[in-house]
Amino acid sequence: MTMEVRATMHALSPISTNLHERIKNDVKVEDEIYARLSWRNLTVVVNGNQSVLHDISGFAEPGRLLAIMGPSGSGKSTLLEGLAGRLSNQAQCHGEILLNGRKEQLSYGTAAYVSQDDVLLGTLTVYETLYYSAKLRLPDNMTRSETELIVKKTIEDVGLQDSMSTPIGNWHQRGLSGGEKRRVSIAIELLTRPRLLFLDEPTSGLDSASAYHVVQALQNLARDGRTVICSIHQPSSEVFELFDDLCLLSGGKQVFYGPIFGAQEFFASAGVPCPALRNPSDHYLRTINSDFDRVTENLKSWSKRFDVEDGCLHNPMARKSTAEQVRILVHLFATSEEKRVIDNTILSMSKMEGKVLPTRGSQASFISGHYGVAAFSIGNTLSSLPFLLLISLASTTIVYLMVDLHSGMERFAYFVLALFASLMVVESLMMAVASLVPNFLLGIVTGASIQVLLSFLTPFLSYT
Ligand SMILES: Nc1ncnc2c1ncn2[C@@H]1O[C@H](COP(=O)(O)OP(=O)(O)OP(=O)(O)O)[C@@H](O)[C@H]1O
Ligand SMILES: [Mg+2]
Repeated sequence: MTMEVRATMHALSPISTNLHERIKNDVKVEDEIYARLSWRNLTVVVNGNQSVLHDISGFAEPGRLLAIMGPSGSGKSTLLEGLAGRLSNQAQCHGEILLNGRKEQLSYGTAAYVSQDDVLLGTLTVYETLYYSAKLRLPDNMTRSETELIVKKTIEDVGLQDSMSTPIGNWHQRGLSGGEKRRVSIAIELLTRPRLLFLDEPTSGLDSASAYHVVQALQNLARDGRTVICSIHQPSSEVFELFDDLCLLSGGKQVFYGPIFGAQEFFASAGVPCPALRNPSDHYLRTINSDFDRVTENLKSWSKRFDVEDGCLHNPMARKSTAEQVRILVHLFATSEEKRVIDNTILSMSKMEGKVLPTRGSQASFISGHYGVAAFSIGNTLSSLPFLLLISLASTTIVYLMVDLHSGMERFAYFVLALFASLMVVESLMMAVASLVPNFLLGIVTGASIQVLLSFLTPFLSYT
């Protein structure tokens, strides 16, 4: 191990000093590589007139962990996608999103988006998964030891050092737990050392202990100077306390934005204080989720039947319907002192033009939108050429000899080429279908149907 590599190993920050050096050498714009994201009056409209998000403002700062919470369908994923610039074509986004005071397209390596699903190869170990991903994502001129170092550091960042040699696991092989898989997905995105991290429900499907470990890993990443924004569903009180800031949505409207301890005061001042011994996040979601109306009705009938006192039910605000409560809370927040402070902060952030964040790595994923359909189709077709040629040669050799067709090298080569051309047509056809039909099963059905139709044309072709 070289001195340089050893020095990096002992660096205080888990962010590889090595990569810092590269960033400084390759991109001349910054010493400071922090991401300050602010959004103002963000409105998202789908299908022409259906408003999914309405007038949302907020900001995310380095070193802090922001939670976007709200009932199902409140617009958490839409807000996250809007901020990450990943909204679908049907959605129109209005408003201002600034990164370090500039209107910027979030480039590869600057920001990472961890979606809800884990797309991992079950047979690989944690280390192998990260190593292969690093080989694909990091610059080509990195040496093997540098890549290995970054992979090990990243595994440590998400606290998976004890499971480094454990296979991911699949339907027939037991492997990592759900929470560990989530952390592997996060680690893959961390390889490029993004300064801004978006995560859509990183704890969904996990028990509270696994969820705690995942969010704790996120908190560590935030404390390391990254800006972390994640949407989350009903966290336990321990998990909730790990967050710094809270953005509470209901029906696409902003109910609250600010530090999580401020939420307690805000709800208390609005007449719906969090009862003692109740998880604050449960209380906030319950207050703004209309699905709980029926639960409250049941509680009322129970308290009447058994003469039970429930402070919440006797609260004048709590006796209102959820829709009314949300309307009051949204109005209260919009006219609150907290909102004024936030607006001022956003304004000052937008005036303060910060550093341009560097783009890192050489490759990225198709889903992240970093390369187009054409590049993927051409790359995939070219890489499959040798295999298709091999398949044509092997099949022809067997069939040609078995059937005892005309001898002669020229005819044999013609057969191989004809088979190879047919395979290429099918391969290209399936690539074209895949780019037009995103659904896997529907794509197979469409491709197969076209091939059947094409085979009907064979008799005509053979006679012309
Ligand atoms: N492209 C779209 N076309 C039509 N409706 C959409 C589109 N995108 C979002 N919506 C609607 O916007 C609302 C918010 O969706 P979103 O996925 O952001 O909710 P969410 O808070 O993430 O919910 P969940 O907690 O269930 O994931 C939903 O009612 C959804 O149907
Ligand atoms: Mg969602």
